Amino acid sequence: MTDISPAARTAPASARRSFDVGSVRRDFPVLARTVHGKPLAYLDNGASSQSPDAVIAAVDDYARAHHANIHRGVHTLSQEATALYEGARDRLVGFINAASRHEIVLLRGATEAVNLVAQSHARPLLVPGDEILITHLEHHANIVPWQIVCAQTGAKLVVAPIDARGDVHAEAVEALMGPRTRILACAHVSNALGTVLPVARLMAAARARGIVTLIDGAQAVAHLPVDVRALGCDFYVFSGHKMFAPTGIGVLYGREALLERMPPWQGGGDMILSVEFENTTYNSLPYKFEAGTPNIPGTIGLGAAVEYLGSLDLAAAHAHEDALLRHAQAALTAIPGLRLIGTAPRKLGLVSFVVDGVHPHDLGTILDQDGIAIRTGHHCAMPVMDFFKVPATARASFAFYNTFEEIDRLAASVERARRMFTHGPG
Ligand code: ALA
Repeated sequence: MTDISPAARTAPASARRSFDVGSVRRDFPVLARTVHGKPLAYLDNGASSQSPDAVIAAVDDYARAHHANIHRGVHTLSQEATALYEGARDRLVGFINAASRHEIVLLRGATEAVNLVAQSHARPLLVPGDEILITHLEHHANIVPWQIVCAQTGAKLVVAPIDARGDVHAEAVEALMGPRTRILACAHVSNALGTVLPVARLMAAARARGIVTLIDGAQAVAHLPVDVRALGCDFYVFSGHKMFAPTGIGVLYGREALLERMPPWQGGGDMILSVEFENTTYNSLPYKFEAGTPNIPGTIGLGAAVEYLGSLDLAAAHAHEDALLRHAQAALTAIPGLRLIGTAPRKLGLVSFVVDGVHPHDLGTILDQDGIAIRTGHHCAMPVMDFFKVPATARASFAFYNTFEEIDRLAASVERARRMFTHGPG
C-alpha cells in the first residue's frame, strides 16, 4: 500500500472527460504489451516516444512497395520514394509554420542540427572574444557543440543561471546579452526538469540586439504547438523519435536568409549541382545540407507522425498531459522522503525526483519489475545535476497516451521501493 492521499489520486474530471485516452492508446500497439507479467506503463517518453500504427504502417509500406534511392532515378520506384520523402518535408513546413520547404533541413536529429549550426553558421563568423549565450539547464547536445566551436574560434561560452526551482528568468538571460553576444542557444523545454523557458521574450530580446537565436525544441514539439515564425527564432531543432516517429531523423529549421549564407557542413552526393576537380557548385536549399542518401524511411515515418498528430485534438491532448503532470506531482510529493527536482511554475511533460535512501538506478530497476519504464541518470544534463547537488534523478516523462492509473502505479511502486530500502524487503 502507498501513503498517497485520496486527494492526490483524483485527476481533474474535465481532463478525464475531454480526451479519450483509451481510444488513443489503441493506436499504439506496444502499449498493449506486458513487462515482467505486468501491463507496460511507458513513462520514458522524454527519452523516446512510441509510434502509432499509422507511422509503423507508413514505414512498412515504403519498405514493401516503394523503396529506392531518391532524387536520382527516372524509374517509378525512385519517383514514388522521392514523392513520399518530399511530402514529409511539406508536412513539416505546416507543422512548425516555416515560411517554405527551403527552411526544413532533414538530418539525423536535434543533436546533428545543433552541430550543423555551430559549424556552418557560427564557426566562420566567430572571432576571439565573441560570446555564445546558453542557459544552465541545457542538454549536453546544446552545450558541447558550442564548446567545440569556442575552442576552434576563441569565442567564450556564457551561461545564464537558473533559480532554485529550476526556472529561467528572462531578465537574467537578457542581462548577459552584451555587445559581443553572437548567438543565444536555449531549450524550449528542459529535458531534465520540464521547465518551459520564456522563449518568445528571449527571442525578441535577442533580435533587438542583433543576436542570432537557436531553440532546442526536442522536448517541446510533442507537447506544445510550435510556430517558428511567431517565436521569431532563427533556428529551431527537434528529433522525430520524441514525437512518435522513428529514431535517426530530425529537423533543422532555419530562416532561409541565414541558411543561404551558410556553407555546406558535409560534402557528398545530393548536396551538389556540379562537380569538377577545380570547382563544385552546391545544390540549392535545403539539399545543400543533406549530403548522402538520407534516412528515407525515417523521414516518411516522421511525415506520418505529423499527419497522425494532425488527426488528434491536440489542445485536448495537451490538457490531458498537463493534468497527468499535476496528478504525478501531487501523488509523488505525498511520498515521505521524495523530493521533486525542478518545480518551475511553467513546466510540462515530466517529473524528476530523488528519494531519500534509494539510488535512482535501484528505483528504476524496481519500477521495471512492476512493468513501469522510467529513465534514471543524469539525463545528459550533468550541469543540472551539479546545480541540485544530486548525482542522478529518476524521471517519469509523459505522452498523451499515458493514464492517471499509470501515474498511480508509478507512485505505488516508488513507495514500495522506498519501503524496501528503508525498512527491508519484509
Ligand atoms: N535527450 C533524451 C532524454 O532526455 C535522450 O532522455
